[in-house]
Amino acid sequence: MQKTFIKDLKNHVGQTVTISAWAYNKREGKNIHFLQLRDGSGTTQGIVYQPGVSPETFETSSTITPETSLKVTGEVTQHPKHEDVFEIQIKEIEIIHIADEDYPISKKEHGVDFLLENRHLWLRSSKQAAIQKVRNTIINGIYEYLNGEGFIKIDSPILTPNACEGTTELFEMDYFDEGKAYLSQSGQLYLEAAIFSVGRCFDFGPVFRAEKSKTRRHLTEFWMMDAEAAFVEHDENMDIQEGLVRHVVKKVLSENPKELITLERDIEPLKKIEEPFIRKTHAEVIAELQAMGSDIKENQDLGADDETMLTQKYDRPIFVEKYPAEVKAFYMKRDPEDSSRALCADLLAPEGYGEVIGGSQREDDYDTLLQRINEHNLPEEAFKWYLDLRKYGSVPHSGFGIGLERLTGWICGTQHIRETIPFPRLINRIYP
Ligand code: 4AD
Ligand code: MG
Repeated sequence: MQKTFIKDLKNHVGQTVTISAWAYNKREGKNIHFLQLRDGSGTTQGIVYQPGVSPETFETSSTITPETSLKVTGEVTQHPKHEDVFEIQIKEIEIIHIADEDYPISKKEHGVDFLLENRHLWLRSSKQAAIQKVRNTIINGIYEYLNGEGFIKIDSPILTPNACEGTTELFEMDYFDEGKAYLSQSGQLYLEAAIFSVGRCFDFGPVFRAEKSKTRRHLTEFWMMDAEAAFVEHDENMDIQEGLVRHVVKKVLSENPKELITLERDIEPLKKIEEPFIRKTHAEVIAELQAMGSDIKENQDLGADDETMLTQKYDRPIFVEKYPAEVKAFYMKRDPEDSSRALCADLLAPEGYGEVIGGSQREDDYDTLLQRINEHNLPEEAFKWYLDLRKYGSVPHSGFGIGLERLTGWICGTQHIRETIPFPRLINRIYP
């Protein structure tokens, strides 16, 4: 028999279909049961009405506990009051598995620790499923946009001999007879090698930060999309990011309206994505923050609180460019107009969300890069290959990295990014 999914019931009104699903809830009257059914594609209500069904079927229906898996067969009807709601008038029920009575996640409010401990079950709830669907759209949107702009996917390694970002945030391990290896913090350096082959490329995979940060924006394992392009300088780098984020948000607005409703996301700020993003220098932002009462100093990086304060003021994404070079990574090219500044930009999401992208133009001169590696006390030997890229046809080039969970968190409007990844890894959590 042809499989029918709940999302497609609208195409089967008046027909008898069979769907495979879970009964996540049930309301019982004397001669009637209302089964709330979920199959991953959507939800519907199944109605078991006596004498419309055999006494055996009604009895089977009585045994259904929350989360029981089953197949139901019945006629699809349109809800008498709601045009876009479809139900099933159940004729037959085939139980696949009666769930234990003690399903721990109920309708009542649970604390977040309890939910995280039961993440393997919490994932089934409607908001969590909605977040994963939006995340999936974002992933597809990123591929779509970058492929359209001539970027091809190059998979960077996860086991690496050197650091990419700060050395204090590395997960380290012994690697056979080769000494230490590290879990990748970003594939950027490898993409820099690949642009000399394919011009424009991106990777998309898990990266790791042993940061002892316990904020709502930090995970120890998260998914990063790094993009890199030859012959692209700082301003064009921001243009590419702006186009990408705009494409992704528009795609979510058009493909996930139901999920955004489930998440109770106010979509007005998301619709503002059509307008040009705000661009400000670090120096301008420091003055703005100080005027708002922050004690941030001119040569400091923006802290999480500063980003929150700043982005609460805006309803559109903001690029903050040209940070003091001293607070940024070794590979960033300096601003020719002020060598104390890096040719970099962080893209901050509005509504208090803060940094979702970090990017920069890269240092492309051999001697300068070597000097930076030494200034940062990085082992020259491990970066020999990276320096080689500045020896054989070096070119101006730029790139950026998107934190998938941060972007998903903003688009979904979730408080903490731990909900945006199926199984979050936090400094105090690795289970389940
Ligand atoms: O700003 P970051 O550290 O930049 C890089 O790693 C560059 N190598 C990227 C590049 O140019 N190709 O990280 C990029 C993004 C951040 O903007 C943030 O969205 C996310 O990765 N991110 C985190 N997300 C969750 N948990 C953490 N601990 C994160 N650290 C960074
Ligand atoms: Mg950053």
